[in-house]
Amino acid sequence: MDAIRILGGVPLTGEITIGGAKNAALPLMAATLLTDQPLTLINMPELVDITTMSNLLRQHGARIDQSALAPGSVEAGPTGRSMTLTTDKVTSVTAPYDLVRRMRAGFFVLGPLLARTGEAKVSLPGGCAIGTRGVDLHLKALETLGAKITVKEGYVYATVTGGRFKGANVTFPKVTVGGTENLLMAAVLADGDTTLENAAREPEIGNLAECLNAMGAKITGIGSGTLKITGVKTLHGARVAVIPDRIETGTYAIAAAITRGRIVLKGTRYELLEAVFDSMRRAGVSVEVTSDGIVVSAQGQLTGVDMATEPYPGFPTDLQAQWMALMATASGAGMIAETIFENRFMHVPELRRMGADVNVHGASAIVRGPSKLSGAPVMATDLRASSSLILAGLAADGETLVNRIYHLDRGYERLEEKLGACGARIERIVGH
Ligand code: UD1
Repeated sequence: MDAIRILGGVPLTGEITIGGAKNAALPLMAATLLTDQPLTLINMPELVDITTMSNLLRQHGARIDQSALAPGSVEAGPTGRSMTLTTDKVTSVTAPYDLVRRMRAGFFVLGPLLARTGEAKVSLPGGCAIGTRGVDLHLKALETLGAKITVKEGYVYATVTGGRFKGANVTFPKVTVGGTENLLMAAVLADGDTTLENAAREPEIGNLAECLNAMGAKITGIGSGTLKITGVKTLHGARVAVIPDRIETGTYAIAAAITRGRIVLKGTRYELLEAVFDSMRRAGVSVEVTSDGIVVSAQGQLTGVDMATEPYPGFPTDLQAQWMALMATASGAGMIAETIFENRFMHVPELRRMGADVNVHGASAIVRGPSKLSGAPVMATDLRASSSLILAGLAADGETLVNRIYHLDRGYERLEEKLGACGARIERIVGH
């Protein structure tokens, strides 16, 4: 398995172009199952999770053509990559364990498969080990629209009476991003009207809803916690841009701050990450929006600030681990309350081995600083924990070896190259 070696202590300076959002691209790809016409997605990221989703969709009958155009062109977005997915016919309604276990987003095929064909057999998902992460809310909501569901031998078996969902009112007892996305893709082809209350408001949901509307769906309330969907008979093809990755944006913003450097973030948008930029400013980091991009810089001592993860527009849980690394280098105490996942402090023992002073009390952690971080061999446990250890390594004295980085390639494209271009001494060791 690959490892990443970092020689820390270099203030990073330069520019980084942010790619398309993984968590937007995955449900957008699943939307191909809703139509027999081509769906073209531009500004696609190149990541292991995208390959896994492509393999899953291919075995449902999708044809996938990828093309590369000039990066930054209007036709292709900042990444230069586009993907056209066409599912003339759904050839299999089974999403097998071997593919869905690699990535929780594989479960997104359930709603669209049921909407298009009236039946599906989908493995219960895998993904990062950051909590129990049930799918009960997806299943209950789909039942409200008329699905008959049984779970046995690790699979969800579902059918829709009469082959078509019936519009209904769904109130999610808890905000769920994936649940909202699965339900949107189910409700667009339902008979009648559906209302989703307490829906997730993440920008990736907006991206999916806009895409579905471009395909002929009728969704209103986009960006709010109440989505109203009037079902239509069929959907058609569309051409849609994937929004910039706000987690990648935040990770590189923290890279600038933790190394007391200056990085210009290009191809991304400030409003996707306001809560994080607000917290960074309170800690003493400079964040400026210029015509060139978002300029993030820091010098000298930063101050510890308190933060709680929350559904959008709050501070994203996917940046909590990276934020903790930054707080270790700040002066004073910073409290971190994790309100989304119950087991998302697995990076703490590894950060401690690098010299961070972190105490966990239930779902909260207190970080006391400033700590002089020192390089160490560490183990990556999940996707965002991996990037937290890399950030700590960039700030630490000496050599950090981050082992088991396979999760990193699920969510960060060419990370070593992007950081290396800003002066980081970072390399991948293949097959370490
Ligand atoms: C998505 C993101 C993930 C991010 C998370 C929260 C994708 C592919 N992944 O994950 O990166 O960390 O949103 O912003 O977009 N829950 C249940 N039952 C359910 C569904 C969820 O108990 O049926 C719980 C989860 O365990 C968790 C919370 O609800 O505690 C939120 O999960 P959810 O918003 O659904 O996250 P994902 O869609 O899995």
